Amino acid sequence: MEIKKAVIPVAGMGTRFLPATKSMPKEMLPVIDRPVIHHVVEEAINSGIDDIIFITGRSKRSIEDYFDDSPELENHLKMKNKEKMLKIVQDISSMVDIHYIRQKEPRGLGDAILTARKHINDEPFAVLLGDDIIVNEKPCTKQLIDNFIKYGRSTIAVEEVPRDKTGSYGIIQGKPLDDSLYIMDDIIEKPAPEDAPSNIGAIGRYVFTPEILDCIKKTTAGVGNEIQLTDGIRLLKEKQKVYAYKFTGKRYDTGDKIEYVKAIIDFALNNEDMQEQIKEHITGLGM
Ligand code: UTP
Repeated sequence: MEIKKAVIPVAGMGTRFLPATKSMPKEMLPVIDRPVIHHVVEEAINSGIDDIIFITGRSKRSIEDYFDDSPELENHLKMKNKEKMLKIVQDISSMVDIHYIRQKEPRGLGDAILTARKHINDEPFAVLLGDDIIVNEKPCTKQLIDNFIKYGRSTIAVEEVPRDKTGSYGIIQGKPLDDSLYIMDDIIEKPAPEDAPSNIGAIGRYVFTPEILDCIKKTTAGVGNEIQLTDGIRLLKEKQKVYAYKFTGKRYDTGDKIEYVKAIIDFALNNEDMQEQIKEHITGLGM
């Protein structure tokens, strides 16, 4: 079975990035010259997705503009003979089929995903959080899709997180099947370190059977008074197996300021045109 649809929720308030996010979405923060969301969409496309549903909200217009045609800009670049930049700009608007659905209020990640229900049409689908960049030759979403194809069941990406950070993740309890795969027994939203069943945390990538939507619908507001995806997953695992997959790759949670700065440094050090000067700069700091 193929997975062709992906939901990318971008309707959160981004309070960790205030005041910048007062008027701009955190997903549009640039990592060098491409916004975070560009990297996320690229991962979806490189995983075989050809239909993306963005769940948007207040002050997210710039995301739509970014993936739309921009005739004025394109004409300007044509007139100035900036062919290379013209191609880059045109490629962005023809990347993939994108639909936009508005989440009326940011009532939680579960609620955001439920908003896409009509468009999902009872098919399995991927979810990529719009502020997580994951770098790896085989995209993280593709790794999950391959596991889904093998077992036919929902698969969520996980990684080991520091014990004192369990309060920022959905933490799983699971039976290991091999080095990278678990069958999920439970998942708990943001437990304190002393209550966490493990230090294996869910990150921003999932592939779901369509049954997750009914499960989310049955939940009521949980932690933080939000409709939590985690609570939907807990119900889903009562009905069918759910797998947790330790993905390969380097993740940056760019919704967090320190992680965002690390992403910029690493991308600059990997960029042929910039690496020498950035290395010189860092060395010059003498730390
Ligand atoms: P986060 O919790 O990281 O986003 O949600 P946030 O609430 O915007 O961030 P802070 O904590 O206030 O800084 C993970 C993802 O889910 C989306 C967010 O946009 C983000 O991509 N989300 C969250 C929604 O689309 N709707 C919601 O109601 C909540």
